[in-house]
Amino acid sequence: KKGGYPHFMLKEIHEQPESLRNTILPRVQNKLPDFTADNIPDSLFHGISRIIITACGTAMHAGLIGKMMLEKLLRIPVSVEVASEFRYQDPIIDKGTLVITISQSGETADTLAALKLSKERGAATLSIVNVKGSSIARESDYVLYTHAGPEIAVASTKAYTAQLSCLYLLAFRFAYATGKMEKDACIDELQQLLHAVSVLEEVLSQDKIIEEISIQVKDKEDLFFIGRGLDYALSCEGSIKLKEISYIHSEAYAAGELKHGTLSLVTEGVPVVALATQQKVYSKMISNIREVKARNAFVILVTVEDQEAEASIYDYHIVLPKIKDEYAPFPAAVVLQLLAYYTSLHRGLNVDQPRNLAKSVTVE
Ligand code: F6R
Repeated sequence: KKGGYPHFMLKEIHEQPESLRNTILPRVQNKLPDFTADNIPDSLFHGISRIIITACGTAMHAGLIGKMMLEKLLRIPVSVEVASEFRYQDPIIDKGTLVITISQSGETADTLAALKLSKERGAATLSIVNVKGSSIARESDYVLYTHAGPEIAVASTKAYTAQLSCLYLLAFRFAYATGKMEKDACIDELQQLLHAVSVLEEVLSQDKIIEEISIQVKDKEDLFFIGRGLDYALSCEGSIKLKEISYIHSEAYAAGELKHGTLSLVTEGVPVVALATQQKVYSKMISNIREVKARNAFVILVTVEDQEAEASIYDYHIVLPKIKDEYAPFPAAVVLQLLAYYTSLHRGLNVDQPRNLAKSVTVE
């Protein structure tokens, strides 16, 4: 059942190159993203002036990354709303609003309620769902399925990266269909996405160093994840993954926010996972890392190949294969998943079924 792996979570982490290809490749026609087989017409994208992404937990974190990609390519406002909050607000929705719901199970009660409310208020609705024929899939006007296959471990891994890939594909097709992106540029972006998938094997093979780091952090009480831009969105995911299965308290911070309060919690030996994959804010990240290192934090630095980092600012350094800023979340997510996995493992916990949590949250 576990295909030779000790846990479903590890199996599912390792399945990501395959689950991503299964999700992306059927949507490639003549080198362009194509949703004909998904019955999503280009006409859907015309007349959309605003996008709201709503979801829970890890699926919501995928939305945070999707927002940045959609806004970059479409230049229309995208907001990300926690479904359990959104549904009790009085959201401003009109015909020009596209509501994207994201859910692995397709059964999350709050996400389903947010979707129903959006429909009532006249939004066009599209869902990114893993489970075929689930309630959220059935309620949505359009569905873009992640073909991640069954995800058994409570901590979501391959569904998350598959959700990211669908959001990227959607951004590409939307931008291309509305004339915001030229054909050649669209082909190039899709190639970059496939390149991101192809580097995952290399990251998966770095699991020994990640396991070593997990042994260093497993008895700590608090841990911080910091980053800027996409790395901040990814920090949120790294933090939830770690806390849900290792039971270590952790928080994600936009690196620039540290000095507005959180830095007082960073003391000797406190682990700080610093994601610095975004070239355009790299020097700013390095100054933030210096700030935490000056407090003797235990720094785990994640950068992309060819990026200089002086050895005095980190304790461990994980180097990702060369990749454009926009695509770094894929390999970086794998690092964070492995860190959470090994930390839980070395604490002797039930990796696949953490206490108090369920795979499908059908209660409100
Ligand atoms: C965390 C995790 C949860 C789910 C959330 C939404 O690893 O799995 O945060 O992402 O409960 O579930 P779905 O995607 O089924 O709507």
